[in-house]
Amino acid sequence: MPETNHFLPVALEHASRLINHGPTVLITSSDGTRRNVMAAAWSMPVEFTPPRVAVVIDKNTFTRELISASGTFALCLPGSSLIDMTYAVGSTSGRAMDKFKHFGIDTVPAPVLGLPVLASGCSAWLECRLIPERHCEDAYDTCFAEVVGAAADARIFRDGHWLFDSGNADLQTIHHLGGGNFVCAGNVLQATGAQAPI
Ligand SMILES: Cc1cc2nc3c(=O)[nH]c(=O)nc-3n(C[C@H](O)[C@H](O)[C@H](O)COP(=O)(O)O)c2cc1C
Repeated sequence: MPETNHFLPVALEHASRLINHGPTVLITSSDGTRRNVMAAAWSMPVEFTPPRVAVVIDKNTFTRELISASGTFALCLPGSSLIDMTYAVGSTSGRAMDKFKHFGIDTVPAPVLGLPVLASGCSAWLECRLIPERHCEDAYDTCFAEVVGAAADARIFRDGHWLFDSGNADLQTIHHLGGGNFVCAGNVLQATGAQAPI
């Protein structure tokens, strides 16, 4: 049973609150034939209405190739239980493998754009339509996009607000310090295979 049963739509005027606190996200993408997922620490809201976000996505990634082809992507917010998988999909390329299959990541189609989003372990997702920018294609890794759909797990985000408590620690967002070390609600979590903080 996908945990997305707990998901409720988030009003678009509240979508910025989902990434306002700088969580590490999983960017999912598909060109209709191929699909992919990568980790990204650099994303932020940049406009209120319509809600727009900026995400830094290296031009050399397979993700970027799929986004250029489809003009869409989704941002999924992994909970603390997914730090190892987050680190793994941020350390490997989808050009060589289907990371969803390789890492055993189940997905469901997101309701607005149909992109694959995580079936379990994430607290929210945002569906995004790329805003074509010439400078983005030519020179920069930063992508701007409009948020066209958003949803969150009602056990941790309700009525436009995060509700972190001792009962939802597994869903709480993770924040990358570098080298596979993350902060979650004040605790540093270390992914398998990562270096200890210096
Ligand atoms: C925690 C974490 C955060 C990352 N943040 C970013 C980021 O903000 N932008 C970026 O371009 N790459 C980032 N990366 C690196 C990409 O996830 C990595 O290049 C990935 O292998 C690209 O996969 P792909 O080629 O399958 O798209 C991050 C990696 C990790 C582990």
